[in-house]
Order: sequence, then structure tokens, then C-alpha cells
Amino acid sequence: MSYRSGLIFALAASTAAFAAKCTPKPKVVDPTVSGTPQVLGIVTDPSLNRDSCNSVKFQNRVLWTCRDTQPVGLDGKPTLPIWDTSASWTDLDADGNPAVQPLSNGTNALLMYGANDARQPFFPLLPGECNDNSAGMCPDGTRYALWHDTAPMVASGADGGVLTAYTWVRKSHIKGDFSTDDPDPATTLYKMTYDPNSGHDALPSVSVVDENFWLYGGLPYGAYGNVVKDGIAYLYGKPSNNNIVLAKVPIGSVEDKSQYQYWVNGAWTSTMPSLADSASANIPNVSAGGQGTYYFSDAWNSYVWIGQAGISVSADFFITTAPSPEGPWAQPKQFYSGENGNFMFGAYSLQAHPELVTGGKNEIYLTYTKNDVIDDNVAVYSTPLIKVQWQ
Ligand SMILES: *[C@@H]1O[C@H](CO)[C@@H](O)[C@H](O)[C@H]1NC(C)=O
Ligand SMILES: *[C@@H]1O[C@H](CO)[C@@H](O)[C@H](O)[C@H]1NC(C)=O
Repeated sequence: MSYRSGLIFALAASTAAFAAKCTPKPKVVDPTVSGTPQVLGIVTDPSLNRDSCNSVKFQNRVLWTCRDTQPVGLDGKPTLPIWDTSASWTDLDADGNPAVQPLSNGTNALLMYGANDARQPFFPLLPGECNDNSAGMCPDGTRYALWHDTAPMVASGADGGVLTAYTWVRKSHIKGDFSTDDPDPATTLYKMTYDPNSGHDALPSVSVVDENFWLYGGLPYGAYGNVVKDGIAYLYGKPSNNNIVLAKVPIGSVEDKSQYQYWVNGAWTSTMPSLADSASANIPNVSAGGQGTYYFSDAWNSYVWIGQAGISVSADFFITTAPSPEGPWAQPKQFYSGENGNFMFGAYSLQAHPELVTGGKNEIYLTYTKNDVIDDNVAVYSTPLIKVQWQ
């Protein structure tokens, strides 16, 4: 049994050459770290071993969604079953900051909680996805790894009442070595519904809007990242050819494909590009090529992406910024390196957590999956929480 299953390898980026356009230069944000970033502790539910968590604010607390999840046994080692995805809550303190507190063993932690007793994937495996087991393991040794790359996108109820949110997940069907015969699978749109009266530990309910929202062999808009600004959802996708593409839709019309527009050849169009055409839709420098997080920074009045390089198992965080979601994006630059784990996949799933920043402060929280061997070649995950102050 391998415990390294949460990793997604991005393939070598082949960025399409883009003709330079003669547009006036916008105000350039030059992100510069102030002082030394602070490792605040770990984000953990001590009863669970899991990787690749991202997070979003659901009203007055924070929902985290993670990939492979396992119970931790009495000996501190992960046990079975594995389930494909899980979710948990964390609390904010009275000032709106993440409620980091010391555990009885002295380690500082942002404690995750919530009803994961069913040990079933938060984003359900569907018929045809080897859903007779919680890991999506198929009899032929392949696996449906429905590993989301992004945090849920809140569509309504952000401030109260029933909240709805969406996540796009590629129907990844992988072999034991993480390779796949289906590099561009269909993308499933999941919807989360959260009633704040449903109890302290209750997790949002999850339903399937459309198993094949984006068709097999097409572009996975929304699976790579999302940012919502002024009522418009901007949805990034990264197919197997590593072109990074962008769609937009009014936040109230996420389920209605006729309302989408696509960024192609430097303009918005209602005609979706094909995978073969996607070089004309690629946005230069919109990320460093790997997993990460898009958000809007009020302090900078700028769109931001923070994440990892395309082929990376190191906690090397890159940033790029742009005055609008479609760019122009600055060349990504590295701004922080966290401690890598000592397992061969030492660090991955680098994320930013803008929802943990209060009061327009010019700072950002980061996490990543750190993977360490404890003994008998058993690797365990941890999620360091880091606070970065910008100049
Ligand atoms: C303290 O407990 C937490 C939760 O079980 C664990 O992740 C952490 O590694 C422990 N710290 C030490 C120093 O053993
Ligand atoms: C994007 O990055 C490349 C180098 O990787 C650089 O040559 C180019 O000028 C950048 N584009 C923009 C729009 O800044």
C-alpha cells in the first residue's frame, strides 16, 4: 500500500508563443515579502491523515476540502480505508484570524472538525468510477482519483441563509504510476449546499449538477482555479497540453452553459475553443504551471495567483499578478520556500488562503502538503500554515 497517492504531476509546460500586443502598461504590482514569513502551526484533524487541502469561507467559518484521507490508528500510522476526498471546518477567532491554538503536546494547530464518520468521498464517486469502494480503486489496478485542484466557489449565501457553492473536478482515471490513458477526461460539476442551522459538525451536502459538465476531450474550465469579482465567476482550466484557458459566467448562472464566454485570441467569445485550438486561448504567465490559488487582492487592487512550478515536489511558492483576470500577467516569481518533507514527494499542493485575511491587511496565508517518513517507510502528511506579510 502506498501512502503517496495524493500527488498530481503536471507535465512539462509548452507555452504557446504569443505575439506581443501594443497596449499601455498597467500599474505593476511588485509583490515583496516584508520580514520573515511565520510558520503558525499545522492545520489538522489529528484523527485523519490527508493531503492537498484547500479552503474557502462559508459565512463565519472556513470549509476545507482535502484529497486522499485515512483514519490515523492508535500507533499514529495511517490505516484503511482511503477515501478519495473529505471536508472539515476550522474556526476563526473573535478578530477573524485563524484560531490557531496549542495542542496538549505543544504543537500549534488550527483544528479541523466535522462529521467525517461515514468515511465516504466528499465529492461522491459516481457509477462507472469504481464507486463500490471509497478510494475509487478498480479491479484492474487503475483508480478514479477525483482530486479537486481548487477550493469550492461560493455562489450565494456568503453572508447568511442557505449557502451554495460549486467545484469542478476532472474525472481522472490513473494507473499506479499516476500516468493515464485519458489525459483529458470529462469534468464533473458538484454543487454544495450548506444550511447554517444544520448543526456544528454537519458538513455541506454535495450533489452532482452534471457528471459531464465539460465533455471528454474538452477544456476543464473551473478545475484549475476560480475567482469571483463583481458578480462574475472567472474560471481557469488546464488541459493536458498545459495551455491555461479562461471562461467567465455570471455567478448566478454557473449551471447554464449558454451563459459562458471564453477568452480566445485576446477577446471574449461565446464559442468554446476546442482542445486542439487551445493555444489561441492560452494566457501567458497566468501561473507558474502547477497547482495554486487565484484570488483578488483588495490591498493591491489586483488579481493574484500563488502556487507551485509545473514539475515540483518542493515547497517553493511562486506569485504572479494581473490587473484583470485575462491579464496581462507578470512573470511568476518565487517569494517563499517552506520546509520540504523527507519523503520522495516531500511537498506539493501549494495553496494560498485569502479568506483567512481580515480587514484588508496586506498579507496572505499559505499551506502545502508536507510528506514525511515516520518509520517502516510509512509516510504521513502534515499541512503547515504560514503567514506572509507584504511590504
Ligand atoms: C502533536 O500532535 C499532533 C496531532 O496529533 C501531531 O500532528 C504533531 O506532530 C504532534 N507534535 C509532536 C511534537 O509530536
Ligand atoms: C511572460 O514570461 C516570459 C518569460 O517566461 C516573458 O518573456 C514575457 O515577457 C512575460 N509576459 C508578460 C506579459 O509579462
